[in-house]
Amino acid sequence: VGAAAMSRPKVLITRADIPQKALDMLNEKCEVDMWPESFPIPREQMLKKIQGKDAIFCLLTEKIDTEVLNAAGSSLKVIGTMSVGYDHLSLEEIKKRGIKVGYTPGVLTDATAELTVALLLATSRRLFEAHGELLNGGWGKCAWSPLWMTGWGLAGSTVGILGLGRIGQGVMQRLQGFGIKRFLYSGRSRRPEEEEKGAEFVPFDTLLKESDFIAVTCALNDQTRDIFNEEAFSKMKKSAIIVNTSRGGVIKQDALITALKTGQIRAAGLDVMTPEPLPPDHELTKLPNCTLIPHIGSAETTTREGMATLTASNIIAGLEDQPMPARLC
Ligand code: NDP
Ligand code: DGY
Repeated sequence: VGAAAMSRPKVLITRADIPQKALDMLNEKCEVDMWPESFPIPREQMLKKIQGKDAIFCLLTEKIDTEVLNAAGSSLKVIGTMSVGYDHLSLEEIKKRGIKVGYTPGVLTDATAELTVALLLATSRRLFEAHGELLNGGWGKCAWSPLWMTGWGLAGSTVGILGLGRIGQGVMQRLQGFGIKRFLYSGRSRRPEEEEKGAEFVPFDTLLKESDFIAVTCALNDQTRDIFNEEAFSKMKKSAIIVNTSRGGVIKQDALITALKTGQIRAAGLDVMTPEPLPPDHELTKLPNCTLIPHIGSAETTTREGMATLTASNIIAGLEDQPMPARLC
């Protein structure tokens, strides 16, 4: 047993709270070293623990960069991130070292698209503000009043989607029943199948100028970082509402705060922001026209299990030199 255990590949898991099914899969095949806390593994602990490991099961909270890869050394063969976003991974460095990367596309599309629509509705119909009014006595003062807590409906509107990928398409599909007049989208590539369903491919400027609602569902990369900046907000309608379930870095946050304060745009709904976790007293939290939720796009029970088991499958297949179910590179 001792010799068999010695020959099993070593896997570092960077967080406790991993769905049991995924842990069982890894424990069956590997020697698992799990960071035992439900908060992120401190950087120095990761640098120490990754030494001599064959694989790492990480989350979007772990930056896997040159320093980590150097600390890991030549034993590291597979990185499995329990996320579809991979902006926390230094892919160029990883590729140079021939390390395989697995991620979790598809299994979280429904949950994240659903949450994006929920956030859009919560923002446009001012659900959190209204809830606050109920708690703070505001309702008692005005009872039912004709103009009180009025929001802005989706029917007849133009919805722009930046990044009509898996999640963007899921958002459009879910909004089909809301009587939207036009769906616009921008991105690097055209999506003929989505155009058949009514999506119009437009330059980013047109999306900014013509959309009543903008859903940001693109990946974060060098081209999309800060793409929503001062100039972009100045082109948007004053009545526009933006929701972001992509990554905080896609929006230049200072520019957003100014746009929300000065009425350059009407409202924003953010599931992702900078930094994460956002300090509770951050300026964004003081803005009544900003709906904030703590990066819960994929936080749905079966989805998280699917993400974790896919990550485990990716790692096991990568270690066994089998085709990984969802290989990024
Ligand atoms: P996809 O790869 O299917 O879609 C990514 C989209 O981003 C594509 O439409 C792509 O367009 C677009 N995109 C990439 N680069 C650019 C660019 N330079 N300019 C314009 N558009 C660009 O990924 P998913 O839909 O599965 O996930 C999207 C992102 O959502 C993830 O990367 C992640 O950051 C985030 N996410 C957030 C979650 C949350 O909890 N809030 C949960 C899950 C994901 P094109 O094909 O034309 O390049
Ligand atoms: C991802 O997968 O990229 C999300 O941000 C978390 O599910």
